[in-house]
Amino acid sequence: MIQVKNNVYWTGIKDWELRKFHGHELSTHRGSTYNSYLIKDEKTVLVDTVWNPYKEEFVENLEREVGLENIDMIIINHCEPDHSGSLGYLMEKIPNTPIYCSKKGEESIKGYFHKDWNINVVKTGDTIKIGENELVFVEMTMMHWPDSMLTYVKGANVVLSNDAFGQHYSAPALFNDQVDECELYQEAIKYFANILNPFKPLIKKKIEEIKALNLDIDVIAPSHGVIWRDNPMQIVEKYYEWSQNSYSEDYVVIIYDTMYDATKNLALSIAEGLRSKDIKYKVFNSSITDKSDLITELFKAKGIILGSCTVNNGSLSSISMILEEMKLLKFKNKPAAGFGSYGWSGEAPGHITEGLKKIGLKVDLEPVKFKYQPRKEDFEECIAFGEKFANNL
Ligand code: FEO
Repeated sequence: MIQVKNNVYWTGIKDWELRKFHGHELSTHRGSTYNSYLIKDEKTVLVDTVWNPYKEEFVENLEREVGLENIDMIIINHCEPDHSGSLGYLMEKIPNTPIYCSKKGEESIKGYFHKDWNINVVKTGDTIKIGENELVFVEMTMMHWPDSMLTYVKGANVVLSNDAFGQHYSAPALFNDQVDECELYQEAIKYFANILNPFKPLIKKKIEEIKALNLDIDVIAPSHGVIWRDNPMQIVEKYYEWSQNSYSEDYVVIIYDTMYDATKNLALSIAEGLRSKDIKYKVFNSSITDKSDLITELFKAKGIILGSCTVNNGSLSSISMILEEMKLLKFKNKPAAGFGSYGWSGEAPGHITEGLKKIGLKVDLEPVKFKYQPRKEDFEECIAFGEKFANNL
């Protein structure tokens, strides 16, 4: 156990090996952690557990540190298996321990475990006095599931926020003032872009609600990654910033897929057009770039240009996949455009452009497309296309 503040302790697991999360959907280059917390007051309270593969190590730690029979209650802030996966194993040993969760949490716990446990439903504003400290619950619907909630430890002034404000980041230390800030923010924004972006309007509203509560907050302790104790509200402010539809950083992203480099060379010419207008850009080949990293780049970019050569009357699969991901993650409102090379019929640029419009991106330019290997004048047209895109930003 590691002390977080006063009588709040971290009792989680560091997963240094994790490279994929949510099955194989999300890359986790820096591993992750499953942060469980123990509050040792007159009552001993366990907040969340850890993912199932670590259940034995987790429960052994609890047994050694506090003794399982001394745990008076368990709070389940969110029932996704990365946090509740060890609950069944733990409850086999202490089956009568009361569990506290949201209404949706009760449904999730029953759905996952099919057990007749002592489940107590709490809602926003409910409190439990545990001695010197009081627990205050705030529902956090869709941050990240309908069941999500946070537990505020009044007295210690610690927010146990579960997924919100977390990062898939197994760091060399537990607190934000002890780790590389660039790595930390890279993982925090990747988490937001890939997991929370569809719920942006709810997040914005929830943050306004939390701020209005005027809680004294000294520490924000999420369920993944490092704990925010140095200026903890910085991550709340960042979430508020990221949840604005207008959020973007100062560069355009060009993403292409290519068979024989014609579309790649068009991409580089479009980039040249952007550069001539002093617009910063990044270029990625989607077929060889990690999907979750691409999504992070799309989230940050102030403009999006997608290109593919045509295959089977459509786009190459990595570009079709990017369009589908952007639709599901609700990436909207940014300027966007399509382009590509072709040999026969040339549908891909049109397919991309229609896809971008359907997602809700702002498409002002007709796509550019060229047959076979582009000529000098085709590259010049691409440079002009990049300049026009820059002018429309
Ligand atoms: Fe970290 Fe939504 O679970």
